Amino acid sequence: MSAVEGRKRRIGLLGAGVVGGGVIELLRARGSELGLELARVAVKDRTKVRPEIPSEVPVGTIDEVLADPSIDAVVELIGGLEPALSAVRTALEVEKDVVTANKLLVAEYGGELRRLANERGAALRFEASVAGCLPIIEIIEAGLIFDRVERLFGILNGTTNFILTRCQRDGSTYEDALAEARAAGFAEADPTLDVSGRDTAQKLAILVGLVTGRPCAPSSIAVSGIEHLVPADHLAAEEVGCRIKLIASFVRTGEGGRARVAPTLVPSSSALGLTTDEYNAVEVECAHIGWQLHLGKGAGRMPTASAVIHDLITLDAARERSRETESKGRRPALDLAASDAWTARWLIRVPEENPAWPVSRIGAAFAAHGVEIVEYRRSRRAGVGTIVLSAETTKGAIDRVARDIAKLQGAVKIPVVLAMEPDA
Ligand code: HSE
Repeated sequence: MSAVEGRKRRIGLLGAGVVGGGVIELLRARGSELGLELARVAVKDRTKVRPEIPSEVPVGTIDEVLADPSIDAVVELIGGLEPALSAVRTALEVEKDVVTANKLLVAEYGGELRRLANERGAALRFEASVAGCLPIIEIIEAGLIFDRVERLFGILNGTTNFILTRCQRDGSTYEDALAEARAAGFAEADPTLDVSGRDTAQKLAILVGLVTGRPCAPSSIAVSGIEHLVPADHLAAEEVGCRIKLIASFVRTGEGGRARVAPTLVPSSSALGLTTDEYNAVEVECAHIGWQLHLGKGAGRMPTASAVIHDLITLDAARERSRETESKGRRPALDLAASDAWTARWLIRVPEENPAWPVSRIGAAFAAHGVEIVEYRRSRRAGVGTIVLSAETTKGAIDRVARDIAKLQGAVKIPVVLAMEPDA
């Protein structure tokens, strides 16, 4: 029961879109028993009919919600930077707790907003900003508080996982799969954030900030997305027993680390390979207890709304925890290694449209940069071409190999370079 001095906690909701609608539905179904009461809702378009909002709940502007002294907690589901940032700042200034699903806001302004929250004795919670219904923030902040996270590895975007699943498993086109993800309410208002990998980078930045206790800017993370993948890339992955997933990864190295977001080959039968549709999965490796796997729906109305409700009913404990963390003081930004230094095993696909160069020509490009070939095969599948698997090397070295292949006589299509999960 999330009561405030013997009464229900009064909630002001900013935004009644896909997730906001889910929050309203859950509050209607379980609010009373959880000690939560929807007090006001702010919407952009007040002319739109919203049957999900109970008739006794006033619908108005953001300012009306923020100015209502009876509201204890503001749920920000507007998305993007403004007016969300100003609304959250004002809510905290007037000592209201804030729950948000806004990863951009948390990734870019989380440190400042958490300090403001602490100064005002309010809580700022953001479980819904990363991995939908998975309580990954609670796990890191509370469940693993005694341990040291050394490595994070996983799928943090439901839209791209849905698109990749549709393309790989069902043979959909990229465009059809994206349209389906948008219709299902998984994608961002601007879906280029999803497919470019930037949404994933924002979420990874939040997690890295939590596990290291140091600010991590999304812009410091090397990012590549799924928008350039073609069916032949999926066929090549399948040929080597893998699936392509948009993987976010962080590895701690001393005081710094390596973080990146990239389409990556994972074994088809691995946990991440079997994570399909809008599901997210996060592997967390800790110094003392080894690794854990967390898996669940990462996007959509109810999975995200459930994370918002989780935050609302755990506000008091979170406020306490946050005060202790902030008392450790502000720390310098995390030092991340340049993306060229990232090591992995790699798959290079030399598209079929190129001349059938002899093995020695391609081999020479690898040898020139000291990169060992582990496997070389000319695929029989239409459109795939030649597949070369490398031994572990840096991204810088494999990119130089690919550039040399692209310069071979008669080249018409540049090679595709994909990282392979270390255990693949
Ligand atoms: N567009 C996001 C995703 C929504 O697909 O994961 C949840 O953060």
